Amino acid sequence: MEKHKRILVTSALPYANGPIHLGHLAGAYLPADVYVRYQRLQHRDVVYICGSDEHGVPITIAAEKQGIEPREIVDRFHSQNIAAFEAFGMSFDYFGRTSSEIHHQTSQNFFKTLYDKGILKQKKEKQLYDPKVKMFLPDRYVKGTCPACSYPEAYGDQCEKCGASLSAAELIDPRSTISGEKPVKKETLHWFLPLGEFQDRLQTWLSGKQNWKSNVRGQVQSWLNDGLSDRAVTRDLSWGVPVPLEEARGKVLYVWFDAPIGYISATKEWALEKKSPDLWQHYWQDKETKLVHFIGKDNIVFHCIMFPAMLMAHGDYILPDNVPANEFLNLEGNKLSTSRNYAVWLEDYLKKFPADPLRYFLAINAPETKDTDFTWKEFQLRNNGELADILGNFINRTLSFAHQQFDGHVPNVYDLDDLDRAMLSILKKAPKTIGHFLEQFELRKAASALVDVARDANKYFNDQAPWKSRNENPEKCATTIHICLQTAHQLALLMEPFMPFSALKLWKMLNKEGALHAQHWDQLRPLNPGHNLAAPEILFNKIEDEDIEPEIERLKRAAPQETDEREPLSIAPEIEFDTFGKIDLRVAIVKKAVKMPKADKLLKLSIELGNEERQIIAGVAQHYKPEQLIGKRIIVVANLKAAKIRGEKSEGMLLAAEDSDGSMAMLVPDKKIKTGAKIK
Ligand code: 2FM
Ligand code: ZN
Repeated sequence: MEKHKRILVTSALPYANGPIHLGHLAGAYLPADVYVRYQRLQHRDVVYICGSDEHGVPITIAAEKQGIEPREIVDRFHSQNIAAFEAFGMSFDYFGRTSSEIHHQTSQNFFKTLYDKGILKQKKEKQLYDPKVKMFLPDRYVKGTCPACSYPEAYGDQCEKCGASLSAAELIDPRSTISGEKPVKKETLHWFLPLGEFQDRLQTWLSGKQNWKSNVRGQVQSWLNDGLSDRAVTRDLSWGVPVPLEEARGKVLYVWFDAPIGYISATKEWALEKKSPDLWQHYWQDKETKLVHFIGKDNIVFHCIMFPAMLMAHGDYILPDNVPANEFLNLEGNKLSTSRNYAVWLEDYLKKFPADPLRYFLAINAPETKDTDFTWKEFQLRNNGELADILGNFINRTLSFAHQQFDGHVPNVYDLDDLDRAMLSILKKAPKTIGHFLEQFELRKAASALVDVARDANKYFNDQAPWKSRNENPEKCATTIHICLQTAHQLALLMEPFMPFSALKLWKMLNKEGALHAQHWDQLRPLNPGHNLAAPEILFNKIEDEDIEPEIERLKRAAPQETDEREPLSIAPEIEFDTFGKIDLRVAIVKKAVKMPKADKLLKLSIELGNEERQIIAGVAQHYKPEQLIGKRIIVVANLKAAKIRGEKSEGMLLAAEDSDGSMAMLVPDKKIKTGAKIK
């Protein structure tokens, strides 16, 4: 039983710098839409909010690349994405945008409240600055070599190779992504949210969330265990929400500060549209509201740490009740990549196929607890085998039979046998079972339970063999078809959250008076005997090999290529022996090894090097467990200039080999030798 008075559901605001692809849908959109549609059929007070995230560096960079204004980019993708979402059946109550006037006011007021309460810390910092184009280089405006894995194309906020989250100042050999120039350091003033001060409250709040998905809880807990630090909420950029302070001229709010406030602004705009301007307050300020954020796993920290801390700091708002974040959807075995066009774009998909089979596939194959894969073949198999052959076939044979034998009317029901009773009991239980899974955000189980009803119904049809009973026992035949029609009727309702277009089509075939969405999830009034049915139509078409072959081919061409072993290796330019001689390689032994907080790839090692003890940070955590390394002899570059990696000193570098598949092997001496021994 839902104990809340109302539910506010949000899906992550997509950046308005590109179209929507299947990965987005699987993570933050389809699961939310199914949940919301179900809640509406339960006649609960639910509002579903989303919108375009129109600020941030990815948008300004895209604009600069194309030589146009950011406004043009966001206008284009805002409307394009709305159209694609609509065609996919996304049923937002309101789809806002963060460039709106109300959003600017709302986020500025939010910032001002935190500022007036003395919560924000003001700090002067030296940040990277491009003297050529005369601007600071936050986030993706700077690239350089990753201090953790030496990847030369790491961004100022993150290394996409090893996943380390970085700050621009940590990059080795930084360069401006605008001019290619080497940046200088220049002092600038910023405002910080002191997350550390909210640590205890966040911990208490999280401890009350035992019902959360374990992947989400685990990740948030590990951030908390590592300890939270100040986070800048302003940036030196011209595109964004201006910081509402005199001394902050030319600065804007950090996109991850304003974007989640976009949920609040969009709710305000929704209320205005409903001509009830204060209505939004019930959804954001009344404790009896259940706030649920649907997101992909890359957004967990923002929705489970930063935004809740902002809401706590502000004081006038409720906190999220649940954040059922999903893992990622891969594509034909590879990670999606928008830059390589290795994705399936929703608008392209919809040009060829209907929305519902994809909605079904993304539900039954939702990346709930681990990454899952979209393959066209699997999509075709599920469409043909489950939607067409099971669900569609049951509907078709039932309606066709009713038209042929009962003149398109619902026949009477007579004495029930055990099979009839069993089928009716399945129908009675199904809304509860599916509803229960949906309440728990278990989309896969819910979708499978839906198809199970149709599977059972086909079996029932076969077992009762109405084509035989129609002559031998007409009453039995009538009863069977009556029950099959009630099943089709129930299925139309149960399908609605998952496949709203097909559900409606079926509803029309059943010729029901009253709108499908006005029905009640577990109190559907049965069809009356004598009710007149409309003509049957095919509910799900089969997908042929030739429909998907071009798609598979296109992805093959765009897929990351395996290195051909016969290809020459791209060996670095030749060096003199003297240059090599400058590198002092030594044998060391690992004394201690621990995982580095907040860095999936890094281990902190204490090593013995002759009579010295040193600390090195090594990017090997995904290949070696700390305990595997303790006591191991390794080879290190002993005269490498010490560096700070994620705030920890690293005095040397461990040698390891990595192949094109990403396998890693550490270099080790082949027999026992003293630490400090020189490699020559
Ligand atoms: O990751 C993204 O696509 C972000 N635009 C999500 C923002 S969610 C919310 F905070 F607005
Ligand atoms: Zn890296």
